Amino acid sequence: MKPVIFDVDTGIDDALAMAYALNSPELEVLGFTTCYGNVSVAEATRNTLAVLEKIGKHIPVYEGADQTFVRGEKEGWAKHVHGEDGLGNALKNAPIIQAESKFASDFIIEQVKKRPNEVTIIAVGPLTNLAMAINKAPEIIPIVKDVVVMGGAVKVPGNVTPYGEANIVADPEAAEYVFSSGFPVTLVGLDVTMQTTLPKSKLNEWRATGQEMAHFFADMTEFYIKFYESFAPDIGGCALHDPLAVGVVIDSSFVKTEMMNIKVVTEGEEVGRTIGHFEGEPKIRICTGVEAERFLEHFLSRVI
Ligand code: RIB
Ligand code: CA
Repeated sequence: MKPVIFDVDTGIDDALAMAYALNSPELEVLGFTTCYGNVSVAEATRNTLAVLEKIGKHIPVYEGADQTFVRGEKEGWAKHVHGEDGLGNALKNAPIIQAESKFASDFIIEQVKKRPNEVTIIAVGPLTNLAMAINKAPEIIPIVKDVVVMGGAVKVPGNVTPYGEANIVADPEAAEYVFSSGFPVTLVGLDVTMQTTLPKSKLNEWRATGQEMAHFFADMTEFYIKFYESFAPDIGGCALHDPLAVGVVIDSSFVKTEMMNIKVVTEGEEVGRTIGHFEGEPKIRICTGVEAERFLEHFLSRVI
């Protein structure tokens, strides 16, 4: 089993990714760390706990950054994409379970030091918690096994601007700091995630299982698919951004990669753009191709 720390801004596709990870015997999820992004950090923590309750797994949750790494910005939630509650307005009750008191980046530092060269970090929100962890304890950089990031758009257009992908645009300075730190990063960006589509027809199959959790996931995902019907009508469903990052950790053969370096644009019209380049030794593994059908089948066999 691979020990993983899962950094989320829960979010509909984050919730799907959580279920996929927790139902995968290859992964040992040590804890979830939360960040602002799709929603505020307090809502991301609440949603993470609520999803864990629905799935029936007790994994510790550590709340993290409530604002960006350098600028201290707090605004800009994606409620039109993920709903007022961040879970497609499907959340009826607040969770009973509670988050731990330790701060997210301190949990990351503690776990990496406890298990040198073993821990994989999966990050599917803004990279603020990771940037804070390496800023506080740069000695963790050479002893993290892998850092798999859902973020960026290297050879394709962005999704929140013509240039930028949401997780990188949310905190470009944190992304630049993490990508230039020496962390062994695999970038699972829009280059591949926009090719992974969950068709709407699957939602009724989930509901037909009769499980309460499957109904919740179907209702939540229906909201996300409605957003995609206007944002990207050609794909016929919603993109599985965050689940693909989990898929890559379980089985890296789902994707084809190229080694490059990444420069993040931190100012101006192109803010959040991830530019691939070959200056210096290439250190970032960029996903440039995906076996989308094989991945979708694997995801569907585990998510519910
Ligand atoms: O651009 C897609 C990413 O932005 C996903 O991680 C989604 O959850 C949002 O955070
Ligand atoms: Ca996310």
